[in-house]
Amino acid sequence: MAAAFADYRPDAVINAAAYTRVDQAEDESEAAFAVNAEGARHIAKACVANGCPLLHISTDYVFDGAKRGPYAESDPAAPINAYGRSKLAGEQAVAEVLDAHLILRVAWVFSATGGNFVKTMLNLIDRHELRVVNDQRGAPTAARSIAAVLWRILERMATTPRFGLYHFGCEPPTTWHGFAATIFAGLAERENRGAMPKLIPIPTAEYPTRAARPPNSLLNGARLQRHYGIGPADWRTELEKVLAALIPRSRT
Ligand SMILES: NC(=O)c1ccc[n+]([C@@H]2O[C@H](COP(=O)([O-])OP(=O)(O)OC[C@H]3O[C@@H](n4cnc5c(N)ncnc54)[C@H](OP(=O)(O)O)[C@@H]3O)[C@@H](O)[C@H]2O)c1
Repeated sequence: MAAAFADYRPDAVINAAAYTRVDQAEDESEAAFAVNAEGARHIAKACVANGCPLLHISTDYVFDGAKRGPYAESDPAAPINAYGRSKLAGEQAVAEVLDAHLILRVAWVFSATGGNFVKTMLNLIDRHELRVVNDQRGAPTAARSIAAVLWRILERMATTPRFGLYHFGCEPPTTWHGFAATIFAGLAERENRGAMPKLIPIPTAEYPTRAARPPNSLLNGARLQRHYGIGPADWRTELEKVLAALIPRSRT
């Protein structure tokens, strides 16, 4: 950290690095905590030493998902898996060490790069049918939207900083099944092909995973709107852009 700060001499730091293998974290919780909690603490300490603010990315997985509506920052955290516990410990470490911190919780992130749900669906496009979970609710969030939010926060921070915990929520709410249906509708239009996998909605119980997932991942972004004037993005518009980047429109 010391070497990186000496090299870059940053005005502000964004920490998007994390141990993100949610299922593997159940068996490697030490590694998850080393990166997500102690790693975050190291960065926060380096920010203190260099007098710069830290924007730290966190997750809806700090919640158990039992609430009916979108989660506010004031809702108590109660993670139900090791990854969530390590991310919560990271939030606490950052807040403990550094006053000038802003923790931004996001959920269900997708983009044209890296591994994510959109890319997974694209890889499964030739399947006859797909069983997709329909009882976990959330709002997909484009990485590009998060980048735009971070940039606007940084611009405002230069003059009127507001620190603390913030949620960035997108709209409209959906389920993984609903997200998959929207992805395949977009792909059908772009690929100019009729056959798309038949989507079969299933409950979480029929798709067991090593780590439990919160059934409700919705985040209430009212505080971000109030303090920074940043409203929720419509993930469907961003999905169009991601699909356009992944698959140029077919010409007939
Ligand atoms: N994806 C989601 O749906 C989601 C939802 C909520 C919150 N988040 C949060 O969003 C942030 C970004 O997640 P992501 O989905 O983009 O994850 P990702 O694709 O796994 O990216 C994580 C990045 O962290 C880097 N990293 C991991 N351990 C590191 C270490 N010890 N030192 C330096 N770099 C390290 C990885 O580098 P390598 O590639 O070299 O390993 C990778 O570039 C994380 O804070 C995550 O908790 C993600």
